[in-house]
Amino acid sequence: MATENLHFHEHRVARELKEKRNQHKSRVLWFTGLSGSGKSTVANATEKLLHDMGLQTYILDGDNVRMGLNKDLGFSPADRTENIRRIAEVANLFADSGSIVLTAFISPYREDRDSARKTISTEDFIEVFVSADLSICEARDPKGLYKKARAGEIKGFTGIDAPYEEPVNPELVVETDKHNIETCAQIVVDYLVEEGIISKTLV
Ligand code: ADX
Repeated sequence: MATENLHFHEHRVARELKEKRNQHKSRVLWFTGLSGSGKSTVANATEKLLHDMGLQTYILDGDNVRMGLNKDLGFSPADRTENIRRIAEVANLFADSGSIVLTAFISPYREDRDSARKTISTEDFIEVFVSADLSICEARDPKGLYKKARAGEIKGFTGIDAPYEEPVNPELVVETDKHNIETCAQIVVDYLVEEGIISKTLV
């Protein structure tokens, strides 16, 4: 095993101290959904609300991470699994640093999202299903990729010829085909307040 001679270090400035100074808990908001469902847009709108409340946040976004850390990965099932594994590890580090982390990846496989939940810990993992009908995502087609997929120019495109496994029991569902972005973001913020993760009165 590559890890057999490694020893985990407990740090003097523990996560709890960071959470205390920040006056909020750290968590990972894991947005999942089809391409074009609005994951990034809702995650960004949520981050803006949280940031304006004075909270420490960080966003990990599909295309951006694939241009850097994960630029060696494609869209085969194995590569998508590795993509999500790395993102879960990075999100976990950011949560450890006291941040509320928002991730926006299709993360189409239930098993991969469940692994992410294990890596991050069930208590800290908040699965947010960004739900919009495939026909709506395809009509939006913000990057023109559905069109290319239908024309056979992209193989294995999620929703067309690759699967998207919907969450069975997500902590939250936001329906971007029924509500506007601001409403969806507010649903997420309200959940965090209700769960006692953040306080409305901060800042
Ligand atoms: S994931 O499946 O591994 O979670 P991720 O969220 O990182 O996907 O990347 C998805 C983005 O990559 C899409 O929004 C789209 O811009 C682009 N993309 C390129 N090829 C594909 C494909 N075959 N399937 C889905 N998305 C693709």
